[in-house]
Amino acid sequence: MATDSATYSVLLVDADDGFLGETKSLLDGHKVYSARNISDAQRKLVEEGIDLAIVGPTFAHEAGVAETTLLFDVQPSLPVLLVSEGLNTTVLRAALRGGIKDVMETPLTVGKLAEALGFVEQIQAQRGDDGRAKPKTKIGKVVTIMSPKGGAGKTMTTTNTALTLASWGDPERVVILDADLQFGDVCISLQVDPKHTIVDVARDIDKLDEELLANLLARHSSGMRVLSAPLEPSLADEVSTQVVVKTIGMLKRMFDYIVIDTAPFLDEPVLSILERSDVVLLVVDMDLPSVKNAKLALDTLRLIKFPFEKINLILNRVNSKARLDIDELERSLGLEVMAAISSDKLVPRAVNEGEPVVSLYPRSRVARDLRSVARLAVDEEDLVEEDTEEDARGRRWFR
Ligand SMILES: Nc1ncnc2c1ncn2[C@@H]1O[C@H](COP(=O)(O)OP(=O)(O)O)[C@@H](O)[C@H]1O
Ligand SMILES: [Mg+2]
Repeated sequence: MATDSATYSVLLVDADDGFLGETKSLLDGHKVYSARNISDAQRKLVEEGIDLAIVGPTFAHEAGVAETTLLFDVQPSLPVLLVSEGLNTTVLRAALRGGIKDVMETPLTVGKLAEALGFVEQIQAQRGDDGRAKPKTKIGKVVTIMSPKGGAGKTMTTTNTALTLASWGDPERVVILDADLQFGDVCISLQVDPKHTIVDVARDIDKLDEELLANLLARHSSGMRVLSAPLEPSLADEVSTQVVVKTIGMLKRMFDYIVIDTAPFLDEPVLSILERSDVVLLVVDMDLPSVKNAKLALDTLRLIKFPFEKINLILNRVNSKARLDIDELERSLGLEVMAAISSDKLVPRAVNEGEPVVSLYPRSRVARDLRSVARLAVDEEDLVEEDTEEDARGRRWFR
């Protein structure tokens, strides 16, 4: 096979620098990119145009395979090889079922990799193209707000975070997905009157493309978009997890930020959303049941090996009378508090006015707190300087 002359763009994905370095040294003459997690890898696919992804042993378990297949959300035809230490049939089966081309055993050698690249040449020749997705300028960041308890402040956090992100960037590039399928109230909190909802997305799922999806979104007065939850709880059944997943994949290609409000459970749709999230804001109210449920949810996420570095613990209503010991809470949840939101009657007042508190009372204490929350969703390099000093003080007070 004439692979000697061809130069390929190969993406290596693994959390271990040793694996990345060693594999790179075996791919002399090719363009090699590396990513330490799947979100970074998705970004590289969009930015670089990749011919082959080699995913390392960090991902050679069932949850890792599920995560790896998220690469296909961005580049459906990407050839992906998984590297495993020893061959495990469960992993192999899951990988092949998920569309991964093959599982290679360690140690990798120049010979094995040449074979893999020959295979890429073959499929590209069969397809008569170079197999890459059309380069997109950017791929959106998925920010999910969750809490395993109703009334914790998810919707309040969702609307205020999204509107803050919209005000820092281009509002037309921010969308809220209301995935609280039975009792979603994002639209009512924002005074948006949706002509369509996610139920229409479900009904058109087979012919859904970006243009059709754009037409099903509602527009907030700021320019930000919203995909409404069903208008009645009974319609929630029409929206399968597949629909939610496909919608997120498409929204990522259309927007810079996809802010997702969720139902107060840890069921299949919510888990599938979490798997696709870059940033998770876990909102915990200052009462014991809220803390207990958060702990149970985190235990479950730990069991399924969810990447905890994505989870940001947010305390809501911190100055309420129910004093909880923050150190004890952090210890019991195994997470550090990343931001705190004060309790303020301006919040329900703003909700009733149909305008989030960050835009109705931008100078209030609680608006400042909410801007600190929004900062957690932004990449360091995109951070805005405005209000930084004041907000930093606000962040520190609960320590
Ligand atoms: N920090 C806060 N201060 C005052 N009221 C709040 C605060 N956070 C939430 N609320 C109020 O609590 C109620 C529940 O909040 P919501 O965001 O709807 O919770 P969830 O979506 O988790 O069910 C709403 O009436 C909201 O206005
Ligand atoms: Mg809600």
